[in-house]
Amino acid sequence: MGFIEKLFGKQMKEETTMTTEKLNIGIILGSTREGRVSPQVGEWVKGIADKREDANYEIVDIADFNLPFLGTTDGTEPGIADWNEKLASLDGFVFIVQEYNHSITGALKNAIDFAREAWYNKAAGIVSYGSTGGARAAEHLRGILGEIKVADVRTHPTLSLFTDFENMSEFKPQELHLDNVNAMLDEVTAWSGALKTLR
Ligand SMILES: Cc1cc2nc3c(=O)[nH]c(=O)nc-3n(C[C@H](O)[C@H](O)[C@H](O)COP(=O)(O)O)c2cc1C
Repeated sequence: MGFIEKLFGKQMKEETTMTTEKLNIGIILGSTREGRVSPQVGEWVKGIADKREDANYEIVDIADFNLPFLGTTDGTEPGIADWNEKLASLDGFVFIVQEYNHSITGALKNAIDFAREAWYNKAAGIVSYGSTGGARAAEHLRGILGEIKVADVRTHPTLSLFTDFENMSEFKPQELHLDNVNAMLDEVTAWSGALKTLR
């Protein structure tokens, strides 16, 4: 082994491992409502994301975890531990956000409150929808993300219930959103990779 390898060998190996490992990005469905449209939006984002082959993207459905309402049980429900384990396995997030009374859903806020360290030092993008693109809900979420040390990226695709959905229920996104979703994912993957070095 040469002098340089002896000196930097370990570090070089670690750097190689870090750059070749794919990031794990969770696409979190923010609504759990019966008849919700969020799965359609989440699958659309995942379809765009998978084509990039730059990270492992997966849909994370809050409804699958059967989380109780925070503070109303002894906290031993397996879904709570599973939720934390799932978040811990992820390097970054894309939140699928729908506007409920000018904010995020109670279900998403409850799920956010059920974890702490599992969120820390990660990045997130937001794709929102509503009558005004879900903008007010997304801005509320940005305030919450600061408290759980999640860095939210700037680019934010906003979908309209009037022009990106038929009868406000069948998702038919306009072509123009595609570039915006990819730009958002560029930022999420870059920041998720950078923040991984802090953990
Ligand atoms: C309780 C409730 C409150 C809502 N408030 C708003 C609102 O303030 N602004 C808005 O643009 N849409 C509002 N909506 C419409 C939702 O954005 C729309 O129903 C959307 O499809 C909800 O997402 P989901 O189908 O994934 O649950 C509201 C819907 C519900 C059920």
